[in-house]
Amino acid sequence: MDDPKNNDRERIDLSRRGFIGTVAVGAAETTLLVHIAEAQTPRQEITPDMVKLTLNVNGHDHALMVEPRWTLLQVLRDRLGMTGTKQGCERGECGACTVLIDGVARYACVTLALEAAGTQITTLEGLMQGEQLGPVQQAFWEKDGYQCGFCSPGQIMSVEALLRKNPDPTMDQIREGISGNLCRCGAYPNIYRAAQRAAELKKAVR
Ligand code: FES
Ligand code: FES
Repeated sequence: MDDPKNNDRERIDLSRRGFIGTVAVGAAETTLLVHIAEAQTPRQEITPDMVKLTLNVNGHDHALMVEPRWTLLQVLRDRLGMTGTKQGCERGECGACTVLIDGVARYACVTLALEAAGTQITTLEGLMQGEQLGPVQQAFWEKDGYQCGFCSPGQIMSVEALLRKNPDPTMDQIREGISGNLCRCGAYPNIYRAAQRAAELKKAVR
């Protein structure tokens, strides 16, 4: 007869893995979910104060009508269905919403969507290589660079920005590079290890 404790342990392990896989990895499902979310986005009501905007996200142009007060975070999540970018404090303190704008890490919650016109925006979904994880995502997976995983997308984007600028950072440079990303779980040691591993993986594919 099965030991129910073992079954419970197995279930916990599986559910943790599954959750982490969803958050940190983004994985192939993310791409699919983006398309589903786009298809399901309710028909947008056009109000007189809306303006036309084209955003280039992960290499694709998206033509939108937006209110000038809308943040990039709102537009990515609510209009484009790109939920890899997380909504945390919404006041530029936690880093959960970090995206790259022209390769530089920026908080999407304090960036107006209009400000991002004419730039190249990269989100967590854009780090995927087809259905494979990008090197930074892979490194976070390998090194358990998370606990609950909520901060992970922002941490991953900041590490990506750091390594694009400095492919071989010291530990101090890693700490500084992701100092704008808070982890309320305190998973910093593994996050730093993941950043080091990401540098190795990026070098290996160069
Ligand atoms: S949600 Fe943008 S910094 Fe916290
Ligand atoms: S892993 Fe939970 S907030 Fe960082």
